Amino acid sequence: MKEVFETSSIIEQLEDLKLNALQELEGTNSVKELESWRVRYLGKKSHLTEVLRSLATLPLEERRAVGAFANEVKTYLEKSLDKKRQVLYEAQLISTAKEEYIDVTLPGRAFPVGRLHPITQTLYEICDIFVSMGFQVVEGPEVEWDYYNFEALNIPEEHPARDTMATLWVDFQTDSGDRPMLLRTHTTSVTARIIETMKPPIRVIEPGKVYRYEASDATHTPMFYQIDGLVVDEGITMADLKGTLYEFARRFFGEDRKVRFRCDYFPFVEPGAEMAIACLTCGGKGCRLCGNSGWIEILGAGMTHPQVLQRGGLDPEVYSSFAFGMGIDRLPMLRYGIDDTRLFYSNDLRFLRQF
Ligand code: DAH
Repeated sequence: MKEVFETSSIIEQLEDLKLNALQELEGTNSVKELESWRVRYLGKKSHLTEVLRSLATLPLEERRAVGAFANEVKTYLEKSLDKKRQVLYEAQLISTAKEEYIDVTLPGRAFPVGRLHPITQTLYEICDIFVSMGFQVVEGPEVEWDYYNFEALNIPEEHPARDTMATLWVDFQTDSGDRPMLLRTHTTSVTARIIETMKPPIRVIEPGKVYRYEASDATHTPMFYQIDGLVVDEGITMADLKGTLYEFARRFFGEDRKVRFRCDYFPFVEPGAEMAIACLTCGGKGCRLCGNSGWIEILGAGMTHPQVLQRGGLDPEVYSSFAFGMGIDRLPMLRYGIDDTRLFYSNDLRFLRQF
């Protein structure tokens, strides 16, 4: 009797245990809770494991009955655990998907793209044209000796040409006494340096900033850009000058743009010339932009003065040379119809982004 009672009591206990376990399992909501449930009901120290371990002490008959039932409970709980684990896993996936949702179809964050200043673009374009004709790009200092800016270019101290280029002087003393310094008023100063330092054949262009002591208005700024050019070799003639500058004008302003050469005076060339193109607005008829002349002056040029070559150490009996110089700011103004040069230097992105 006693044994029967014991057996049925163990089975009852196991049934209770199963019921409790399933009820608690129902209430678990996380992987952590699930694990503590597993330890409690299926772990090494759980009641069920104890029952299974004590089976050996029972008589054979009981061992069969209790053993079979205990194993059934164990298998049932294990299956339920697996099912619950799956349910929790899926719920976890759904909530992660909701919380960490990334809309891969959203447009990316746009990075602002930089661009070159319209004057830099123009400068590069001009350099490219001359480089393709075999010229080399060189640069010189912006703070310059009076000598290279004026003296070496046939502009001595009392020369009236100095008045046409209001100069910003730099206060500077050297051991050897005063050697006046200035902010270069034209890139022709680089021409003077190149004649002194390079050996012919020379074919260079010299882009850079220049400075004049002038108030700003729609057509003037105290700093602007120029490019000078210099060619020195034996047998260079005015025809080389014209051919080179025609080719430049054709490439920069277009095949059909009319070009005109006229005499002009610059102290460092003889003869001197100016090159003009047919007005981009009226095509030559005359309008406000070209002062009713139909032409727009683009550059100064000429055959380098023998004295300038000589001063730089080149024998004018052996070598001849042509030179030219032009302002850059005017070119994008003409091309895009910009009527105020100050816009280039005001750093207004609404303006600059257009180019
Ligand atoms: N330097 C002159 C200016 O700023 C322009 C110029 C004229 C440059 C004739 C030259 C040249 O090289 O040959 O007005």
